[in-house]
Amino acid sequence: MAEGIFTRGVYAPVPSGRVLTDLPVQGTLPPELDGLLIRNGPNPSPSSLRGGGDDLSSWFSGDGMLHGIRISDGRAQWYRNQYVKTAMLDNPGGDVVNDSPANTHVIEHNGSILALCEGGWPYQVTPELDTIGMTSFDGKLQGPMTAHPKTDPATGELIFFGYNWQEPYLRYHVADRTGNLTHSVEIDVAGPTMMHDFAITATRTVFMDLPVVFNLDLAMTGNSVPYIWDDEYGARIGIVARSGQSTDVTWFEIDPCYVFHTFNAYDDGDTVVLDAARYDKIQVWDASTKAFSYPSNSYLVRYRFNLATGESTCQQLSDLGVEFPRIDLARAGRDYRYGYGALIPDDDLDTFVGLAKFDLTTGASTVFSVGDDHVNGEPVFVPAQSQSAEDDGYLLVVNYDKRTDRSEVLVLDSQSMSEVVAKVELPVRIPMGFHGSWLPWNSLNR
Ligand SMILES: [Fe+2]
Repeated sequence: MAEGIFTRGVYAPVPSGRVLTDLPVQGTLPPELDGLLIRNGPNPSPSSLRGGGDDLSSWFSGDGMLHGIRISDGRAQWYRNQYVKTAMLDNPGGDVVNDSPANTHVIEHNGSILALCEGGWPYQVTPELDTIGMTSFDGKLQGPMTAHPKTDPATGELIFFGYNWQEPYLRYHVADRTGNLTHSVEIDVAGPTMMHDFAITATRTVFMDLPVVFNLDLAMTGNSVPYIWDDEYGARIGIVARSGQSTDVTWFEIDPCYVFHTFNAYDDGDTVVLDAARYDKIQVWDASTKAFSYPSNSYLVRYRFNLATGESTCQQLSDLGVEFPRIDLARAGRDYRYGYGALIPDDDLDTFVGLAKFDLTTGASTVFSVGDDHVNGEPVFVPAQSQSAEDDGYLLVVNYDKRTDRSEVLVLDSQSMSEVVAKVELPVRIPMGFHGSWLPWNSLNR
């Protein structure tokens, strides 16, 4: 990582509380888009730059800021941004149990909007991005919650986990579609690893126990991301029935690697297929420079885990560097054909230069380039109202223009991957963030 990268350019924080209405639009916003594009990401307030001096502190631990673009009737009605009003934002020196920067993802469940960060409990916010407060499934949630829960498209259940540096290292949870926590168990793992994401199939849950391990020395020196690569830890994938317990987990040893994000997983008889953005190695701590390094790019791979034989395979499916994988969420946990992601060039692992679409049936990939003057973020797939094929819809992506220091929202035809249907122009920068969602307006409690 280039020094200082997280405090300048597309990463530089912006003021909170902007409300801008009737944004200019190039092209035609599809009238069927009636919802909120909501994004989350770190926006370190001056008082929050509290890490151990490593740049990644401001990236992984910066205070969460939400950005919302309300689209309706073919118009970009408003843009707002707001800090998630966490306890640590109001009181940087404070230590509230299960607090977090709430800076990683933002989703909808049971009509509520939840800002998520794997270090703590969700924060609920309104569609206008005002913070309601921390929430914990009626007080039943024990320990932190991942920022990457999965919603089963058939049952509406929210399936998630939480990992922790202290025991129990891993807990597994299911909430029903109305938000009742119905299943909550501890899962035994070998150590306290950084478990950022996981996957579901229609019947099973897939955990990734990978060799980025909590390091007490780093924690004691105030490092806010005290996890480092451990050559000794090994790497395992655990597969369990969706309603299972720790003793029901089947573990598969795999070659050491790291996966921040999965594309999807699905059942194929006795086999579980898992598609992921895989790094050979990440987050190596250099004590001399007091910085982390990411020595490899991330590529789409397909794992197959045969529960009957215990055998597994891993095949790289593309030479395109990719992160922030997304799919049509109606296919979550199901056999699917298309994956999308942000494109990382092999010669500059610090930036995104476009979007990639992977056809997992034919093996073909399609690239949409944003050009050298732009840096894009994660795409979000929105199905067309009369979806005729899995890829019939739009990719919504925030795209930063280095020349003007402003951002735009591109609405890209996800079938052609070449036609920009509309471009919403913002007079401000939306800093590079992590994740977000398209929330249909009629899905939200208001
Ligand atoms: Fe993530």
